Amino acid sequence: MCKKLTVKDDYDKNAVYYDRRYARIQGVKYNMLLNHLPKIGLLFDLGCGTALIVKLKKLDKLRYIGVDISAKMIKIALKRRHFYKNFIIGDVEYLPLREKVAEVISAFTVLQNLEDQPLFINEVKRILNKSGLVILSVLKKNLSLDNLKNILVKNNFIIERKVEENDSEDLGLVISSI
Ligand SMILES: C[S@@+](CC[C@H](N)C(=O)[O-])C[C@H]1O[C@@H](n2cnc3c(N)ncnc32)[C@H](O)[C@@H]1O
Repeated sequence: MCKKLTVKDDYDKNAVYYDRRYARIQGVKYNMLLNHLPKIGLLFDLGCGTALIVKLKKLDKLRYIGVDISAKMIKIALKRRHFYKNFIIGDVEYLPLREKVAEVISAFTVLQNLEDQPLFINEVKRILNKSGLVILSVLKKNLSLDNLKNILVKNNFIIERKVEENDSEDLGLVISSI
């Protein structure tokens, strides 16, 4: 089975346990990066999983659309549906979204799961509007920051800020277009 189907299958199988297992770990990452999220605008949370961030954090009037490849994760996320919060089942390497639709994009702990990271960053570039912001949280373990920087530079992105905390397994990156 290809990596993408294996990943989807794994998250489908474990969706019901996800919140219990990962709420604390992911919560640390949201706390670390929440200050960098604007209070209003249209946020696409790519690889949103069960939308734990919606459960754990007050996102004010930020309109939120979560996208995830696992229908079972999205089924749980749908319990968090709201006038300002919606969900799409989809592949972040081939986003079913039109160009420049997003004002903010987040992806928490998703990069390690992807088959083709350049394709993902390319999609991020395509759907982000001109003055948009990207918040990436990437596992420090196995991270090749130089490789990621190269992919970002090829798409005219720059890393504005690195955010790091000892108790977070992820490095936070605040990214914007040149
Ligand atoms: C570690 S979980 C993180 C979930 C969520 N961001 C959070 O903070 O809890 C990774 C998520 O990425 C999703 N994912 C992996 N590959 C994907 C792809 N190609 N397209 C969309 N979602 C994907 C998985 O289904 C899973 O829900």
